Amino acid sequence: MNEKTFPEGFYWGAATASYQVEGGIENCDWAEAARDGRVPPCGRACDHYHRYEADFDIAKSLGHTAHRFSIEWARVEPEEGKWNEDAIEHYRDVLRALHVRGIKPYVTLWHFTLPLWFSHTGAFERSDAPEVFARYCAYVVSKLGDLCEHFSTMNEAAVYASNGYLRGSWPPFLRFTLTDKVAITNSGRQYEAQPSRGFSPVRRYFFVMKQLARAHNRAYDAIKRVSPQTEVSHVKHVIVFAANRNPFNMLKAWVANYFWTHRLMRRIHRHCDSIGLNYYFYTQFGDKRQWKKTDMDWNFAPEHIYDALCMLGRYRKPLFVSEAGLADEDDSDRAEYITRQVAGVWRAIEDGVDVRGHLYWSLLDNYEWALGFAKRFGLVEVKYDTLERTVRPSAYVYKKICEENRVIE
Ligand code: BGC
Repeated sequence: MNEKTFPEGFYWGAATASYQVEGGIENCDWAEAARDGRVPPCGRACDHYHRYEADFDIAKSLGHTAHRFSIEWARVEPEEGKWNEDAIEHYRDVLRALHVRGIKPYVTLWHFTLPLWFSHTGAFERSDAPEVFARYCAYVVSKLGDLCEHFSTMNEAAVYASNGYLRGSWPPFLRFTLTDKVAITNSGRQYEAQPSRGFSPVRRYFFVMKQLARAHNRAYDAIKRVSPQTEVSHVKHVIVFAANRNPFNMLKAWVANYFWTHRLMRRIHRHCDSIGLNYYFYTQFGDKRQWKKTDMDWNFAPEHIYDALCMLGRYRKPLFVSEAGLADEDDSDRAEYITRQVAGVWRAIEDGVDVRGHLYWSLLDNYEWALGFAKRFGLVEVKYDTLERTVRPSAYVYKKICEENRVIE
């Protein structure tokens, strides 16, 4: 018996998000931005909206016991305060399809895309945005809560706000010039608008972040009112900012971690039953190493998921890896990335961090936001012209990990 085993009941699987895989969503801010030529069109994407059963068959055949997906707000609430029962019925079918395959659902209520009525009226800058968001979350949980125990309110508040209000690469395309100089993520710079004048994007960014924290907290309370037993989490994107021994670099890393991770977490952690970690980035101030890069040009640093888990561990809530993975078109590095990443998770558990599951990003190749369909994150390759699915070799390495519930060397 290999000693690097995970706790009994540890769950394994992969994640997707509605707009990135479903196809056919035209009434949200991203679809509008595509019509305006500011981001690539998404179209039918993977047509997962119609093919979810076959996709879940693949997930099951790969040993997955859990699956994370998101609800498309614009489908459920196409007009403010008006609910679309057909959309709810669809997501109930999706949940049933997971249950019959023995796969536990993890539902995200909002993953970046906004209904047009909400984006046209100011999105999270609306003074009543927290209430509007909470009403939507509570409605969905009241309709789906009997089929799912675990809901996350939102995915990566800081990524949404920084790409949309500082970098100008995502709707609503506000750009603050100075952020160009500190870009460490590749979020589709070719679509950026002209820089906005003055500090208005920065002011608006901080306001939006505050509103997102309020929205999460309100949604938590509203969900608990309709379904007290539901486990409610927040999905946090953590960038690990590390430093060499230089005190100035150490200070920079502290400030960066505070602004990217802890400022938000301090506002919301009391309204979390658990926390999802999305891990993609490790960066060190004063680093002289030449890192191998993923297809996104991100440092190949899977084992540093350990540091990210320790950072969230301080909030003393159960954690789960809600996303972690890489773009790797020829699948030459994915198996190594996954095994090293899983070893990092195991190490964190050994050191006392309460991690309950691991969901690779992503089950399928999908729409990588402002970068379109070029980046391949999937365990399963999607040929977009025929929609044919092909399981990549690395998915079988992950399958072995899932089935044996242990680190594979
Ligand atoms: C997001 C996903 C995205 C992935 C890879 C995460 O930040 O939640 O939607 O596709 O990163 O960039």
